[in-house]
Amino acid sequence: MTADLRTTYLGLALKSPVVASSSPLTGDLDSLWALADAGAGAVVLPSMFEEQIEQEAIELQRLYEAGTGSFAEALSGYLPDMQSYNTGPEKYLDHLGAAKESLAIPVIPSLNGTTRGGWVKYAKRLEAVGADAIELNIYLLPTDPYADGRDVEQRYLDLVEAVRAAVDVPLAVKIGPYFSALISMARRLAEAGADALVLFNRFYQPDIDLEALTVVPNIKLSAPVELRLPLRWAAMLHGQVRSDLAVTSGVHSGEDVVKALLVGADVAMVASALLRNGARFMATVVEDLQRWLDEHEYESVDQLRGSMSVAKAPNPEQFVRSNYMTVLRSYTAKNS
Ligand SMILES: Cc1cc2nc3c(=O)[nH]c(=O)nc-3n(C[C@H](O)[C@H](O)[C@H](O)COP(=O)(O)O)c2cc1C
Repeated sequence: MTADLRTTYLGLALKSPVVASSSPLTGDLDSLWALADAGAGAVVLPSMFEEQIEQEAIELQRLYEAGTGSFAEALSGYLPDMQSYNTGPEKYLDHLGAAKESLAIPVIPSLNGTTRGGWVKYAKRLEAVGADAIELNIYLLPTDPYADGRDVEQRYLDLVEAVRAAVDVPLAVKIGPYFSALISMARRLAEAGADALVLFNRFYQPDIDLEALTVVPNIKLSAPVELRLPLRWAAMLHGQVRSDLAVTSGVHSGEDVVKALLVGADVAMVASALLRNGARFMATVVEDLQRWLDEHEYESVDQLRGSMSVAKAPNPEQFVRSNYMTVLRSYTAKNS
């Protein structure tokens, strides 16, 4: 018997629980076709950044002021039409439109912002172009020594509320793991309108170039061991929040997808493994998931989901702090 891979995420019907996470790969139409063809349940486009949108607004304002300040009449003939000016965000909307037109699976654009600015209106435009849902990637690094944890959390909630108020499509919120009380925060994000929580953003750490003595951006692809962090938190959140759960970080194989589902994720998202091995690797992940389920005689992913969450696992204490001492004592040089 073949296990049923179909699932729902954000209220959308997905043919499999493996989703291509936001990355340069999903910014390319050929790769999107390959991902869909290889069995991806949905795709998340690269983020449209608040900075991109604001930069566009500044450029347009500059152009406009240059025109009105000097020879306005002459310029008015070639000043770009504000609506169709083809800059970053416009190209993004075109890409979303093209993806929607040619793919039969859900397409989820991503917005990245940290302030409750004018960029939120882009959520409406994404919806108008046909977004099946929107993923809001909140990547906020608090540097104000006078802003306490509550202030920072409130910024997250304000952002979610602002985007939620702007659109009717389902909203996923991608967060980092660094909250003092993650479960409480997850609950408040759900109340603010997050239909799904995406666990977790990887915070890219800059490096130092010792020759040039400069700080350099240095994106490293993930390693499978990074899956353990979202696994633990998905296990704890499953059944405790009403949002769906997506696991991202360290999903490199069909077996990793099985683990994510076992702890209660609705979907598992893949980026690094696809960037490393190409879009067709999606087929390997989906086939391995199918094989595992068939060999272990599961009828569907629904049957498996959450059976090893904290609420249901036979030994849930392995996920929580009280087991810390035993874990440290279990170290052997062999398993490091
Ligand atoms: C090169 C690169 C670009 C990425 N760009 C985005 C992005 O624009 N928006 C976003 O939400 N996540 C972005 N991510 C994060 C991925 O979507 C994913 O959440 C993260 O890499 C963890 O998953 P992985 O272990 O499968 O790589 C990017 C990751 C990589 C490696």
